Amino acid sequence: MEYLKSPMNYIGNKYRIIADIERYFPNEINTFTDLFCGGLDVSINTSALHTVCNDINNYIIDIYKSFQRYDIQYLLDYIDTQIAAYKLSKFDKNSYIKFRNYYNQSGNPLDLYVLMCYSFNYQFRFNSKHEYNNPHGTNRSEFTSVMRSNLTEFKERIDSYDFECFDFINYDVNNVKSGDFLYADPPYLLTCGSYNDGKRGFRGWSESDDMQLFDLLDSVNKNGGKFALSNVSHHKGFVHNSLLQWVNDNNYKMHNINCNYNNCNYQNKNKSNITREVLITNY
Ligand SMILES: C[S@@+](CC[C@H](N)C(=O)[O-])C[C@H]1O[C@@H](n2cnc3c(N)ncnc32)[C@H](O)[C@@H]1O
Repeated sequence: MEYLKSPMNYIGNKYRIIADIERYFPNEINTFTDLFCGGLDVSINTSALHTVCNDINNYIIDIYKSFQRYDIQYLLDYIDTQIAAYKLSKFDKNSYIKFRNYYNQSGNPLDLYVLMCYSFNYQFRFNSKHEYNNPHGTNRSEFTSVMRSNLTEFKERIDSYDFECFDFINYDVNNVKSGDFLYADPPYLLTCGSYNDGKRGFRGWSESDDMQLFDLLDSVNKNGGKFALSNVSHHKGFVHNSLLQWVNDNNYKMHNINCNYNNCNYQNKNKSNITREVLITNY
């Protein structure tokens, strides 16, 4: 199967290992819930009758809702118009700063998408005043022809999705029943990437979040639903003991993801370099 890459280039996205993950997904899904949906690389490559995507990051959810609101020609014209009006390019930092100032006044999610396309590592970074403050992606970031064609396909796929913007702790999983499937790709306790959205949404990730997420997944299990959880069990000499304990106590299954010589070889003398990515399922 050919997988579609999200035009968000989201930090921590699962595109690179999507095939390794999805081979463990159920073949038939009524409602698919992507509880930490991020750039949607998993949602857009998972077939289900109904798809629900949630993320605490309101900025990214607002972009998706704007994509749904307009047709693709309007979106592409809007993007092209802003790029031309502000002379945005991967070489011109000053134009980027002007456009960033403009977005911080307009607050239009479509402007944020254009801005992100020219920003460093395509990151969503905001300061405490909710101003986007990511620097220019000099010589690297731009709205490429590949992103343009991926956006077209992406929009078609997400048009029917329901988007939510909850802290997972407040998410009602009682709707996840037999025939449904919930995928959880939270920040990893052991590696914790940066999803800085200016204190409005993302609030860091702690051991207690992991515990509450384990409880939530146990509820899905009790309700007869299926779940899969992405995580890392080992990283730079650290072991995620509470994760391993929870898997063991509940007889869940743990699958190794993306095993290759560098990151998953236990004969490797330098064990402290190993990062073990896993997928935990209740089926
Ligand atoms: C690893 S990323 C998900 C990447 C996604 N699977 C993809 O392929 O693009 C984790 C996501 O969790 C979100 N997040 C962090 N804390 C959260 C919380 N308490 N509730 C809901 N979402 C949260 C972040 O905003 C981020 O988008």
